[in-house]
Order: sequence, then C-alpha cells, then structure tokens
Amino acid sequence: CANCFTMIIWLIRLVWDHLLCILVCIGLLPNGNFKDGPAKSQLNGTVVMGRHSIPNWEISGFVEYIQSGHQQGGMVVAVPEGASAVRLGNDASIRQNIRVTRRAYYSITFSAARTCAQAEKLNVSVAADSGVLPVQTVYSSGGWDSYSWAFRAKHSAVWLAIHNPGAEEDPACGPVIDAIAIKTLQPPTKSKGNMLRNGDFEDGPYIFPDCPWGVLVPPMDEDSCSPLPGWMIMSSTKVVKYVDAPRYRVPHGARAVELVAGREAALVQEVATVAGRSYRLQFYVGDAANGCKESMVVEAYVAAASLKVQYQSQGTGGYRRAMLDFVAVGNLTRVVFQSLHYHMKVDGTLCGPVVDDISLVSVRKRAARRLLM
Ligand SMILES: *[C@@H]1O[C@H](CO)[C@@H](O)[C@H](O)[C@H]1NC(C)=O
Ligand SMILES: *[C@@H]1O[C@H](CO)[C@@H](O)[C@H](O)[C@H]1NC(C)=O
Ligand SMILES: *[C@@H]1O[C@H](CO)[C@@H](O)[C@H](O)[C@H]1NC(C)=O
Repeated sequence: CANCFTMIIWLIRLVWDHLLCILVCIGLLPNGNFKDGPAKSQLNGTVVMGRHSIPNWEISGFVEYIQSGHQQGGMVVAVPEGASAVRLGNDASIRQNIRVTRRAYYSITFSAARTCAQAEKLNVSVAADSGVLPVQTVYSSGGWDSYSWAFRAKHSAVWLAIHNPGAEEDPACGPVIDAIAIKTLQPPTKSKGNMLRNGDFEDGPYIFPDCPWGVLVPPMDEDSCSPLPGWMIMSSTKVVKYVDAPRYRVPHGARAVELVAGREAALVQEVATVAGRSYRLQFYVGDAANGCKESMVVEAYVAAASLKVQYQSQGTGGYRRAMLDFVAVGNLTRVVFQSLHYHMKVDGTLCGPVVDDISLVSVRKRAARRLLM
C-alpha cells in the first residue's frame, strides 16, 4: 500500500518538524547568551580572531567578546544575562544556522545596548528577509533594551544574522548584543466575537523571564512580518513596548502594549469592513504600574471617526474601558492608536499609556429598526 507508506512518512516528518520546533523554538538559541566564549588563544585583547571561535556562532568583521565589568573609555559596559556579550564593530556580523518549521512564523528577541556611535542600527536577517532596527533611542535606565523582529520560514534550516551596517571612525563603536531568543508565533487568526486579530496582544515576541524592561517592537514595512501578529508599528525610528503581567500591570490577559513614543509611533491594524455599516471599537487604556505618573491621552482613529481617551495615571496600575462607534467608509478600515504626548519616568526613561483587549464588532442599529416597525 504505497499511499499508506507516503502517509506514514508524511506523518513522521510532521511529528519530527514539530519536535524540532519544540526543542529549539522557544527560548534562547544555542549559546544565545554567549556564555561559552572563545578560547584565550582566539582573543587578541577583546577582539575575536577566528570566524568559528565563539561556539555555535560564525562571525565576520570586527567582533569583540565582552564580559561584565569591561571598561571602554572609562565607562563600564554593564552586561546582563550570563555576564558576556559581543560587540559588533563597523560592518561586523554574527550568525547562526537555526532549525525551523517551513512556513511557520517566528519572532526573534535579543538584547542590545548602544555605545558610542551615532544613529546605531542593526540589520537582522533570515535568508532574504531582513529588517533594520534603530537602536539609537534608549528606553530603559540600565542602557539595555530587548528588540524583536519576525520572519516566516521558507526553509527548515536558515541562517539568522545580526549585522551592524555602521561606518564609524572608531571601529570599536557599535552595539553590544546579548541574549538572542526565538519563539514560534501563531498565524494571525481572528478570535470569536472580534474582527481584529490578536486584539488582546496575547501572542507576541518572547520576553526574557529575568529581564525587567519588556520587549520593543520596532517599526516595520507594511508587507513584512510582525512580531506582534496582526499589528503593524508605523514610525520612522520609534517603537512600542510589549509588556507582560508578571512584571507590569496589564488591563486584561497576560500581555499588553505600552505606547512609549508619543505621536512618533502608531499601532495599526487593517480590517475588512463593509462601507456604510456600523461598527463598535472598544479597548482599555491604562498604565503599566511602572511609575509613569502622568496625565495621559490615547487617541484612536478609525474611518472618519476619532476618540481621545483621557487617563490620569498614578503610576501604580489601573485602566478604563473606552468605546467608539463609527461607520465604515471603505472595504478596508485602519484602526490606529497613538499616545498624544511624550511621558517620562523620574529616571528619565520614556513611558506611556498601555492599550489592551481591543475589540471591533459590527453593530446593527436595532433600536432604530424597532422604531421603524
Ligand atoms: C593584536 O592586536 C594588535 C593591535 O590591533 C596588533 O598589533 C597585533 O598584531 C594583534 N595580535 C595578533 C596575534 O593578531
Ligand atoms: C540587511 O541584510 C540583508 C542580508 O544580508 C541584506 O540583503 C540587506 O540589503 C541589508 N539591508 C540594509 C539596509 O543594509
Ligand atoms: C469594495 O469591494 C468591491 C468588491 O470587491 C469593489 O467592487 C468596490 O469597488 C470596493 N469599494 C471600495 C470603496 O473600495
């Protein structure tokens, strides 16, 4: 029975792919925190000499291996997570071959700190997909931030590369990188009773269990994969912050989005609508209990309607539900959220209002119809 045989092979492959995924697809990549460093003979000072000197990684260009307490220009470079990291000089990169499941969606999370270069950026790529993440603005008080990026696997083994495209006078200026993790994302599907995908933000990039600063979701092109399934971040260089319940207060479920960049970044989802039909948008506005004690305003735009939601934050957690009724004007409606103002904590880091549990439903004008009958 040839058919059964192909079927069994197919099943074994399916199980195998899934097993591989369970093995590698959530948490740190092999030696993702650079705990295993190069042998002493492979280092000239901090500069890594061999292409394959760092276990599990392949490097190119000026890459330094840095351990916590390392000084540069009189400043200590603090290294979290495992106490070692790599610095990518001009045009340097690190890469690792990773096993994934074809056609599945993945998000990459890594921590980075900027050093002395101007307009620091990192180019993250998997095969032909790439994204340039701005790492210039620092969002946490320790100088380290976690960034996310997503891709859809076209093959079962792919090269994940992080490249510093910078060209600084001092080749030792460039971002320090640590803790690279991967997580499988669900394909963006709608949940029952909500026209929006991932409206509660429960699916999103991996958040390191021991890092207190959330994960930044950078701006992306309209056609690229989002680490926050269903949602796009539109901005030139700014981000939104993905926060989770154990460390922050979130209005609903376990995860939410903090709008940390004022009007410079928008959280956007496009949804199919019927022109002329009425819809209702509902969402929570609150604060993450992270000491952001400010008077906040979230503005939601949808079709020709908009709503400004005021929220007085005590910085200790809390929220309110907001509602906006509107009539669709086209086949596609963009749902857009922005923080109207910039906010800052006492330590000088950016913060802002939290949005969560966003729902969109079609409403019939029942009351009006009853009046007509
Ligand atoms: C180590 O670096 C110094 C300064 O960049 C260089 O002069 C020297 O040749 C290097 N040593 C080795 C063994 O590559
Ligand atoms: C980023 O890296 C990818 C893969 O190496 C490359 O194709 C792409 O052109 C790079 N993008 C930029 C802006 O440098
Ligand atoms: C909506 O879609 C229909 C059918 O796909 C098309 O005929 C119509 O022109 C579209 N309307 C608008 C406003 O885009």
